[in-house]
Amino acid sequence: MKKSAIRFAALAVGALAVAGPAAADLPPLEMKERYKVGFPQMESNNPWRIAETKSFEDTAEGCGWDLVTTDAAGSAAKQVADVDSMIAQGIDVLFLPPREEKPLIPAVMRARAAGIPTFLVDRSVDPNVARAGEHYVAFLGSDFVDQGRRVAEWTLANFEGEEGIIIELEGTTGSSPANDRRKGFDDVMAMHDNMTIVASQTGDFSRDLGRQVMETLLQAHPDVNIVYAHNDEMAIGAIQALELAGRKPGEDVLVVSIDGTRDALQAIIDGKMGVTVESSPFFGPLACETMKRYANGEEIEPWVKVEDRIFTIENAADHIDEAY
Ligand code: AHR
Repeated sequence: MKKSAIRFAALAVGALAVAGPAAADLPPLEMKERYKVGFPQMESNNPWRIAETKSFEDTAEGCGWDLVTTDAAGSAAKQVADVDSMIAQGIDVLFLPPREEKPLIPAVMRARAAGIPTFLVDRSVDPNVARAGEHYVAFLGSDFVDQGRRVAEWTLANFEGEEGIIIELEGTTGSSPANDRRKGFDDVMAMHDNMTIVASQTGDFSRDLGRQVMETLLQAHPDVNIVYAHNDEMAIGAIQALELAGRKPGEDVLVVSIDGTRDALQAIIDGKMGVTVESSPFFGPLACETMKRYANGEEIEPWVKVEDRIFTIENAADHIDEAY
C-alpha cells in the first residue's frame, strides 16, 4: 500500500495547515464535541459482522458519536445506496467496510466529493482505482495475505500425512479478504510439491453455504485430507458436511481457518479443527482513536494495521471466554 503520509489542517481549532499535494484533496475534520458518524454494515449473517457492529455501537457514546448504522443484507448495491443516504443525511465521518473491492468505489468518491472524511474498516477497495491519502483517509484492518500465509505455514508444520489433498472454501467473490487470503495461502502451498489444492470455490463467508459447497466438493474429492476455509463460519459448515459424510474432522481431515470465533475455538478444544488465525472485528475503539487523531491534525498512516494472534489447542481454552 502507498506509504505517503496524510496531513491536513484542523481548521476549527486553528491548527497549522501542513498539507502535501495529496492531503490537500482530503476533506478536513473539525474538532468538536459530537460527530454524526455513518457505519453502513454489509450484512449481519455471522457472528463476526454482529461483533463488529456492536463494537461501533459500544464505542459511540464514549467517542461522542451520533451513530447511523445500516445493514445491506449482503448486497453491494444496497451498501452503495446506504452510503448515499448517509451522505444526504449530512454525516461528518464515514467508516465503511466495503463488501467487495470494486462496487463501493463510486460511493467512496461521492463521500469525498461531499467533503466527508472516509475511513475504510476491515475490508479495502481496489488500490488501482481508489487510494488512501487521496480518495479516502486510511484503511484500518488486518493483513489478509499474511493471515493466509500463517494458516499455510501452520498447516505445513502440523499436517501428519505425506500428500496433502486440499479443498479451499473461499470468501465472498471480489472481496479483499477472499482475494488476499487465497493469495497468502496458495503462494505458500505452491512451493510444496506434496500439497495440491484440488478445488477452490466460494462459500461467501457463510456457514450454510460453506456446508453446501463442502457437501458437493466432497463427492468429487472424497480423498480430501485438508480443508482451508477463509473464515470460521465456513469451517464450521465444512465440519458439519464432513461429519454427515462419515468423516472425522481432526482425525482424517485437518480443518484450518481464520477469524477466532467462539464456535471455532470450541471446535479446536473439541479436536475438530487445527488452527484459526485471528481477524479481529473489534474496530470501534481503533476507529475512535484514528478519527480523533485526524481531527487533531495528526498524520495518519495509509494503513492502520491490526496485529492478529493465532489460536490452537495450546491456547484456545484461554481465549474462549473473550470470543464472540
Ligand atoms: O472482512 C473480514 C471477514 O468478513 C471475516 O473473516 C468474515 O468472517 C467476515 O464476514
